[in-house]
Amino acid sequence: MKKRQLGPCVTFFPQPATLVATLDQQGQTNLMMASWAGIVSKTPPTMAVSLHQSRKTFENISETGVFSINMVPASLAAEADFCGIASGQKMDKAATLGLHFENSAQGVPLLAESPLSVECRFERFVELGDYRLVLGEILDIHVDEAALREDGSLDVEVFDPLVYLGGVKEYWSLGSKQADAYRAGLQFAK
Ligand SMILES: Cc1cc2nc3c(=O)[nH]c(=O)nc-3n(C[C@H](O)[C@H](O)[C@H](O)COP(=O)(O)O)c2cc1C
Repeated sequence: MKKRQLGPCVTFFPQPATLVATLDQQGQTNLMMASWAGIVSKTPPTMAVSLHQSRKTFENISETGVFSINMVPASLAAEADFCGIASGQKMDKAATLGLHFENSAQGVPLLAESPLSVECRFERFVELGDYRLVLGEILDIHVDEAALREDGSLDVEVFDPLVYLGGVKEYWSLGSKQADAYRAGLQFAK
């Protein structure tokens, strides 16, 4: 493999396509597309999302201290993209798109149309130039009941997650399962 250098840019994939749900002090909800997001610790359970300091989403999290990160199903690619173009500073994106929120028991807005929502409480942020790497304690994870098999395992095909190819600026869905994690590699263990 002969590699070419692209320089220090943001080309990397796949990235998760997520919708961050927040609310402001008046209780107005907002949705924002974020692909720089992921689980970063198991103990304590922690989710991170990197937000430009100008985002309404960052303002909301700073004000109310809660948010949810919602997996985007492939069927919502265009709606999610709109949430990455328009700002909640100027409009109610969810109302425009016909998307809905459900509140968790602790009052955190979850995207009703997402089959996988991670409910978080703001922990702290790390300053990264214009960005704020927001760390949130995971309070709960909400999954679509339709994805739960009788034995408690998850049927991945129900989720159909959308992924983002940073640098290429395209959304794709997942292909097929390739292997079992923590098992496939065991064939190389001595
Ligand atoms: C595919 C995609 C991924 C994005 N990921 C991020 C991200 O991780 N962090 C960020 O600050 N902005 C990201 N954006 C830009 C914001 O979603 C966009 O600026 C949005 O309008 C901000 O909304 P808000 O002001 O309502 O919070 C992304 C946009 C797209 C289209």
